[in-house]
Amino acid sequence: MPLFDVYPLYDVTPVRAKGVHVYGADRKKYLDLYGGHAVISIGHQHPVYNRRLKKQMSKIGFYSNAIQNPLQKQLADEVEAQSGCEGYQLFMCSSGAEANENALKLASFYNKKAKVVAFKNAFHGRTSAAVAATDTPKIIAPLNAQQEVIFLAFGDEKALEETLSKEDVCAVIIEAIQGVGGLDMPTKKFMKGVEKLCRKYNSCLIADEVQSGFGRSGAFFAYQHFGVTPDIISMAKGMGNGFPVGGIFVHPKIEPWYGMLGTTFGGNHLACQASLAVLEVLKKKNLISHAASLGEAFEARAKTIKAVKKVKGRGLMLGLEFDFEVSELRKKLIYEHRIFTGGSSNKKLLRILPPLTIQQKHFDYFFNALEKSL
Ligand SMILES: Cc1ncc(COP(=O)(O)O)c(C=O)c1O
Repeated sequence: MPLFDVYPLYDVTPVRAKGVHVYGADRKKYLDLYGGHAVISIGHQHPVYNRRLKKQMSKIGFYSNAIQNPLQKQLADEVEAQSGCEGYQLFMCSSGAEANENALKLASFYNKKAKVVAFKNAFHGRTSAAVAATDTPKIIAPLNAQQEVIFLAFGDEKALEETLSKEDVCAVIIEAIQGVGGLDMPTKKFMKGVEKLCRKYNSCLIADEVQSGFGRSGAFFAYQHFGVTPDIISMAKGMGNGFPVGGIFVHPKIEPWYGMLGTTFGGNHLACQASLAVLEVLKKKNLISHAASLGEAFEARAKTIKAVKKVKGRGLMLGLEFDFEVSELRKKLIYEHRIFTGGSSNKKLLRILPPLTIQQKHFDYFFNALEKSL
């Protein structure tokens, strides 16, 4: 049976990985500056991660959410302590789209409204409401297009107030650093304005931290750089270091009732252990401040390269913008220098999303390869 052919693939077959490197069936060693799309947070095959998962696997790997699972509570307490999001409630699921789908649904349950505001170039996932709030028309099927989503430009506070003042918007969903869209960020003033208008017109502010969360931006969540308080925070990717884990933090003002949300796989024993391993290593190795300082050093070095027109992003969620499309450059980096990088819907942007354990010497290797490839 053929595979449903929806992905253009590089000709590399990873068979093993360790730390910031991936090893191919071709016996070559690749530097992973893509992290499997911002997923690998504490590095491939981290011993704490392997130990926790193996130990859990030998006891119980899965049971549904019909029983007590103290690991969920342990995870909720640890993530609350590390993120500083005091008082929120945790609901677990298994992917980023599912997290956003639940966030949007919850907002609508809460204020009984149905429209959504999202931003130009946003990416929120591929499930029904999440994909409708994604600014890529070609991936929105007619079925999804039934959701009413208004796309606004970052910075357009006037349009936001006009839209929210109709009092029919359940949620404003925003990435504090856009991922797939190409690393654009709102200003602090705009972010504060979004928060204020959401409060004024009783719309929920949803921070999509699926890609930027769990330390990648140099703060636990990227919205924290802006000093706002979201009503719902969605997360996934780095939360599980490769294990499919997602979740939302729900503000205490939103009260649950039995059956309001649900999932078969979300929050299972292995998922909790994967995420607990991530939190353990983030804390022990100070990876969030490491991400912040290494990101600054990366930016300073990148700015010395003439061909780089702009350095975007923050922490270890970075982008280099050129005045040409980067697909050939990415091929050179992977096939000639054995470095994985990422692309985005901005075709001139090279994305850098390494494991948070990356060191300066790896970036030195990258910059040498980049200069040779330009
Ligand atoms: C900001 C953001 N939200 C949501 C998603 C969807 O996550 P998933 O692919 O796990 O469904 C992504 C995936 O790239 C993302 O970057």
